[in-house]
Amino acid sequence: TGYSTLDSGFVNTAATKSAITYIDGDQGILRYRGYPIEQVAENSTFLETAWLLIYGELPTADELKSFDERIRRHTLLHEDLRRFFDALPANAHPMSVLSSAVGALSTFYEDTMDVHDAAQVELQTIRLLAKLPVIAAYAHKKSLGQAFLYPDNSLSFVDNFLKLNFGTMAEPYVINPVLSKALERLLILHEDHEQNASTSTVRLVGSTEANMYSSISAGISALYGPLHGGANEAVLKMLADIRDSGQGVARFVERVKNKEDGVKLMGFGHRVYKNYDPRAKLVKESADEVLAALGVKDELLDIALELEQVALSDEYFISRRLYPNVDFYTGIIYKAMGFPPRMFTVLFAIGRLPGWIAHWREMNLDKATKIGRPQQLYIGSPARDWPTDR
Ligand code: CMC
Repeated sequence: TGYSTLDSGFVNTAATKSAITYIDGDQGILRYRGYPIEQVAENSTFLETAWLLIYGELPTADELKSFDERIRRHTLLHEDLRRFFDALPANAHPMSVLSSAVGALSTFYEDTMDVHDAAQVELQTIRLLAKLPVIAAYAHKKSLGQAFLYPDNSLSFVDNFLKLNFGTMAEPYVINPVLSKALERLLILHEDHEQNASTSTVRLVGSTEANMYSSISAGISALYGPLHGGANEAVLKMLADIRDSGQGVARFVERVKNKEDGVKLMGFGHRVYKNYDPRAKLVKESADEVLAALGVKDELLDIALELEQVALSDEYFISRRLYPNVDFYTGIIYKAMGFPPRMFTVLFAIGRLPGWIAHWREMNLDKATKIGRPQQLYIGSPARDWPTDR
């Protein structure tokens, strides 16, 4: 058409203005609503950060209390949605279960999801924050063949989630504060990351005025892939493969550099961060601390540390500015907490939910936002006539 500029992968094209998250990739800076991620992770909670991202300012004590209470009131799933899990195969990947069940939320709340009605948008926000952890825990329980627990609304957001995952019908669940604190911190680090692939997906779907459940179900699907959120599961598989093959870290790095079978160093590299990923730095700090506090010794952590060291001193990675990203060490911590690798990306999804909601709302409030509709450069056949001899 003559007016399109090709920017495959949106490397140079801003799709929107946004006031939520600031990233400076060269300097390794990440800020939520202006607050440095290091300070947020040190001082905040998951829900307080969610409020900050969604509403733009820190909540007062009363606002936070009422936000928390409203979320607790909405944790129960419709009984029919509980039974929805029965129809899925036991070995289904929990990310597929998650996106399906969140998509299915639309079917339960069709009457209350007018995207132009502020009260209904608020209700969708609260429901998603309340129900996603429950759906996630059911996906986990389903894969174990264990009975689902009902949410315990006397517990905080994170503790309720841990109980739903690790509690059983047979015994009382004892909260481990080390686990709660570590998970809270990891979830905070994942809460938003401006226009990443899944958030862009949520915005694109939302730009058609599709409801929040459908938009976020699509975001979960985008997060599933190993180049995005799926990397945390892929990292653990890679570390286990290195251990089990006995090939050693140096040989594995050679394979990556030679691009043998397209093998990549999972958990390394980032489209935006070209010096370091500030989240990775914070996660790495946590890894040692959490493993020590939980009394877990994991040889995969040693392999990860060696891999990082080899890669960071190798010309291939230096010249391409490839550094560990947020996904490099999270899996080791999640594993120490007792989550199976297939749940790692689900944990990322719970963490990212406030960011997806904040972006969906920002876009819908901005009346100037148009439906997302990229251009293309057509490279197919020129016009031709249908063959008459067919
Ligand atoms: N291992 C080996 N080589 C790599 C890697 C890697 N992890 N990442 C990039 N490269 C190479 C790539 O092959 C290319 O080399 P060459 O110029 O010789 O062809 C060069 O570095 C530039 O890479 P790119 O693919 O153009 O970079 P991108 O910005 O399009 O991709 C990325 C970013 C994150 C998809 C990519 O680095 C990657 O695939 N990393 C592994 C998966 C991963 O850890 N993803 C999680 C990202 S952070 C959290 C999240 O988003 O969920």
